[in-house]
Amino acid sequence: MIDEASRLEADALAVIAQAGDHAELERIRTLYLGRRDGLVSGLLRGLGRMSPEDRPAAGAAANALKVAVAEALEGRRAELEATTALARPAVDLTLPPRRRWRGSVHPVSRAIADIWAIFRSLGFTRARGPEVDTEWYNFVALNTPLDHPATDEQDTLYLASGMLLRSHTSPVQIRTMEEYAPPIRIIAPGMVYRRDTYDATHTPAFAQIEGLVVDELATFVDLKATLAEFVRRFWGPAAQVRFRPSFFPFTEPSAEVDVKRVIERSDGRREEKGWIEIMGAGMVDPAVLENVGYDPERYTGWAFGMGPARVAMLRHGVADIRAFYENDMRFLAQFA
Ligand code: PHE
Repeated sequence: MIDEASRLEADALAVIAQAGDHAELERIRTLYLGRRDGLVSGLLRGLGRMSPEDRPAAGAAANALKVAVAEALEGRRAELEATTALARPAVDLTLPPRRRWRGSVHPVSRAIADIWAIFRSLGFTRARGPEVDTEWYNFVALNTPLDHPATDEQDTLYLASGMLLRSHTSPVQIRTMEEYAPPIRIIAPGMVYRRDTYDATHTPAFAQIEGLVVDELATFVDLKATLAEFVRRFWGPAAQVRFRPSFFPFTEPSAEVDVKRVIERSDGRREEKGWIEIMGAGMVDPAVLENVGYDPERYTGWAFGMGPARVAMLRHGVADIRAFYENDMRFLAQFA
């Protein structure tokens, strides 16, 4: 057995010294040290059949063999490494150049900018309000009593101070009407917050765009025509709009607005998509006008609130809204 070990060692060291590349070294490693069929492992296994007197010496020889082979493999590996490193030019001219990082506008910001541009051309100005707000602005002034389910802690994120994170951009309606007299024609984009489960269609923080018009003769027809015009400008002349009756405490009547897009496929054929809800809208409830000191006999108003992330999802065919808020560069770089 001891002879066998020194013969194996001599053989192994000879082939290792000749090995020309890493692949060959790996083959030699498996041949000698492979756990199952390796020659050295076979030798070690043979120890079990030896007499107790012979076993210690044979075991030591077998282990020494194992160490010697492993060291020889490592030595040759380092040698190969050194020679190939020297043979290689310091600069690999065949590598493709690293592209320069180009920043891009986030798809949700771009949707907001495009939506805003359309409404600006229709005569709207931009308004903003705080993200930390009070129950008065977020609910009460909007004709939403505090026992309304929407005020539930389940939906709204309250702060220790008794303030809250606005759950929609509608409080900007109130702040704007408090500050200015009619006519009002504003667009107010911003972040809103809700205690929603984080899933493919919900994130606890998301963008909304509020629209509000108050004037002496603001009618439901204006609302419908304006939103239809917006949809056609945004999605093309073939896009359709539909209003479905709905309920919001601050509008009466209220509607949910759906859009149906017609897209041009790569084979040139037109494809009609299904109806998708993009916003809530309605005539401002006279109680809301009263809350800000407007005369509801003289003024009427209409408002809408839409989700630009929803719009961006439709636009880019993104199925999971979370992709927009996780900031994975591989996802965002596609929009550069
Ligand atoms: N604020 C409503 C929401 O968050 C949307 C809405 C805005 C509805 C304005 C009607 C008028 O769901």
